[in-house]
Amino acid sequence: MQYSAKWESPSNIALVKYWGKKGIQLPANPSISFTLDEAKTITKVSLEEKQSQNDYEVTVLYQGKEMPSFEGKIIQFLNRTSKLFTFTKDYKVVVNTVNTFPHSSGIASSASGMSALSLCLCSIEEQIEGNKTLDFYRKASFAARLGSGSACRSLYGGIVSWGAHAQFPGSSDEFATELNQSEVFEDFYSFLDLILIVEEGEKAVSSTLGHSLLDKNPFAHTRFEEANKNMALLKDALKEGDLRMFTKIVEAEAMMLHALMMTSDPYFILMKPATLEIINRVWAFRKQTGLHPVITLDAGANVHMLFPEQEKDVILNFATEQLLPLCKNKQYICSKIGSGPKKLD
Ligand code: PMV
Repeated sequence: MQYSAKWESPSNIALVKYWGKKGIQLPANPSISFTLDEAKTITKVSLEEKQSQNDYEVTVLYQGKEMPSFEGKIIQFLNRTSKLFTFTKDYKVVVNTVNTFPHSSGIASSASGMSALSLCLCSIEEQIEGNKTLDFYRKASFAARLGSGSACRSLYGGIVSWGAHAQFPGSSDEFATELNQSEVFEDFYSFLDLILIVEEGEKAVSSTLGHSLLDKNPFAHTRFEEANKNMALLKDALKEGDLRMFTKIVEAEAMMLHALMMTSDPYFILMKPATLEIINRVWAFRKQTGLHPVITLDAGANVHMLFPEQEKDVILNFATEQLLPLCKNKQYICSKIGSGPKKLD
């Protein structure tokens, strides 16, 4: 009997950032994100007859080419999820994966990649063992978290939170949950994210190392308190449609994330001169026009500019003239807010 499953899963951009871990891939503070519509990973997992005595036998194809260098990461994930997906030791696991964005674009593929992989394994588990999981997406989110923390938020569409917080009923450190649409002013669902690609390729400091440096960061405790406060403030801003508060929280979070990097031991800076120039140009444009572009950053040099759909024409014009010349080969990705993963075939 041959088992296989194919899923497409998107990336997400955090508004309140997860930075710092505890236990096994649990977040030091809660986070919240927009699920994107672009920047997706499409993964097919097939189980084949095992040839070796090894605990795990894995083949990874990336953009159609065999990639032995990716096998270690997949084996680590299968190991971490061995109690969730007990069948993975009994077969050769073939992972065939493609990204809809260039590998070199500096866009992290771990969120879309680990969520797509988890969904495939959940689907295969259903084929082998029948539909025994009460909440399919919750299990996939739990599993994805063990691969990459932020991946657990890619399992749902719209606006998603992860991490226990008193003002987010049903929230958990172990899996993500989607915000109820009745709790969000509907204009936020029409936001766009223009990702301005400042730097391509691997980051100078991996997010795994970055997270671990929080353990000794002198500002860590204050940071975790601020993130918890920002979750509550952002929740209110989303509900009330308070764009001023939304802007303040989202931008403060991006600044604080990078301030934590600069105050770690060893300290490091992931922003580049073009990152700062873009931020300053956006802020000047906002002041001049009274429009609402909002800046955020993830753990890298690229800038995400979020803005309401109604302002699209003027803002994209401004970006074409003033921001794209600062990007690497004028590269960008423009994404709507997405509806989450899709099962294929
Ligand atoms: O999921 P990781 O380990 O790649 O960490 C992601 C960290 C940030 O992107 C900086 C913030 C976040 O919440 O996505």
